[in-house]
Amino acid sequence: WSYLALAALGAYLLGSIPFAVVVSRVMGLKDPRTFGSGNPGATNVLRSGSKLAAILTLVLDAVKGWLPVALVGWYGAPYGLWEGAQALVGLAAFVGHVWPVFLRFKGGKGVATAVGVLLGLSAWLGLVAIVIWAGVLAIFMMSSLSSVVTAVALPVVYILGGGVLWDYDRTVLAALVVMVVILVYRHSANIGRLLAGTEPRVGKSKKTQA
Ligand code: G3P
Repeated sequence: WSYLALAALGAYLLGSIPFAVVVSRVMGLKDPRTFGSGNPGATNVLRSGSKLAAILTLVLDAVKGWLPVALVGWYGAPYGLWEGAQALVGLAAFVGHVWPVFLRFKGGKGVATAVGVLLGLSAWLGLVAIVIWAGVLAIFMMSSLSSVVTAVALPVVYILGGGVLWDYDRTVLAALVVMVVILVYRHSANIGRLLAGTEPRVGKSKKTQA
């Protein structure tokens, strides 16, 4: 338990690094918390007009979810840390992104970090999630809709592919469900706009605050 707590704490701190803010600052762009949806995430960084900054944010926010999960996968077994521990450590990184200690607990919506966690748990699981996300984006061109649809589908996808494309583990499922609930909750404002038909499409600028 103490090893798990230590790994989760490390993952939380790593997850707390707000790469949207860091990348924007390093590249001399406006702080993403001050425009668009106000969300410190890749989608909102894209609204600054810099595709490179958005891609860097996406990749780095995903890496901070992937890395702790991968590390526990590589080195955790001698400490009694198996797949369930990987998922819990991934959840800690995700929570770090959403409620980061370095931003007074005002973080992002967790999409990129969640994808990193999924890739760390199983490359197939991550890939399937990315395909669903990109497929919904290709049709509707709304990042938030893609994220919410993928999140809601994830537990079902995990159960269906369990034992076929990846191992099935109840702790992993539980961690995924918690992640999905938080992720959908963090999209409350987006869901309101989606229902009202006012959610902006990718590539268009957005003035509303969320
Ligand atoms: O990654 C978050 C995305 O799903 C929505 O972002 O900025 O449109 O609220 P945003």
